[in-house]
Amino acid sequence: MRLREVAHRVHFRHGNFCDLKALIIGSGVSRVDGVIFDLGVSSPQLDRAERGFSFREDGPLDMRMDQREGRTAADLVRDLPETELADLIYQLGEERYSRRIARAIVQARMQGVIATTWQLAAVVERAVPASYRHGRIHCATRTFQALRIAVNRELDVLEPALRDAVDILAPGGRVCAVSFHSLEDRIVKHTFRALANGPEASVRVLTKKPVIASENERNRNPRSRSAKLRVVERISKEYVK
Ligand SMILES: C[S@@+](CC[C@H](N)C(=O)[O-])C[C@H]1O[C@@H](n2cnc3c(N)ncnc32)[C@H](O)[C@@H]1O
Repeated sequence: MRLREVAHRVHFRHGNFCDLKALIIGSGVSRVDGVIFDLGVSSPQLDRAERGFSFREDGPLDMRMDQREGRTAADLVRDLPETELADLIYQLGEERYSRRIARAIVQARMQGVIATTWQLAAVVERAVPASYRHGRIHCATRTFQALRIAVNRELDVLEPALRDAVDILAPGGRVCAVSFHSLEDRIVKHTFRALANGPEASVRVLTKKPVIASENERNRNPRSRSAKLRVVERISKEYVK
């Protein structure tokens, strides 16, 4: 919608980040001057109950960014063994009550299907201590994050996608990545660092520390509070020592 005014200069392609190179080359373009990765979910996805990303409203427990393919969050919650669920919630959600939550999910699914966002949120609420239930963030936030990352295999595609983006950059071109949680930021940081080091270095890192939103922006747009921007610039072969 916002691009309507420049629509004659914009071409849309629908695909996973890891298809970026193929999509660009398939469009007859061999080099690009810039790539921006705006990672994570988008606000309209979060706000639309039927996509199943949020526990603020009740909706089917889906969470797929691309609804054309893949397993839903309800599938994972129904099928994964307890230990795998616990590991997933711990690793991808950094949730300290992961074991209790996994156990509660397994108990709940023996009594009936966990099919909606509110059903899952209620299971999590019952599983965690009262102090955590009334904490700063909703007690199901981390469990939902973990399932979302797993459903979309978000961390798996990130490093190859960043490397592909750098591959197709023209000299002086830049790759910018905005991440929204520490697991994602760690991958961006390490991938950029690896590409900038050694005799085969192809970029230099322009952001020693990630750029974060100003206080003013955070107040205007609370979802920017966890955003981190990192940027690399392609160096031409002559600069490589
Ligand atoms: C922060 S939003 C982008 C918002 C957009 N720039 C706007 O202004 O409305 C991130 C988007 O990336 C998509 N996304 C996340 N991981 C992806 C991946 N691996 N491949 C393709 N798209 C992905 C999400 O579905 C979401 O629509």
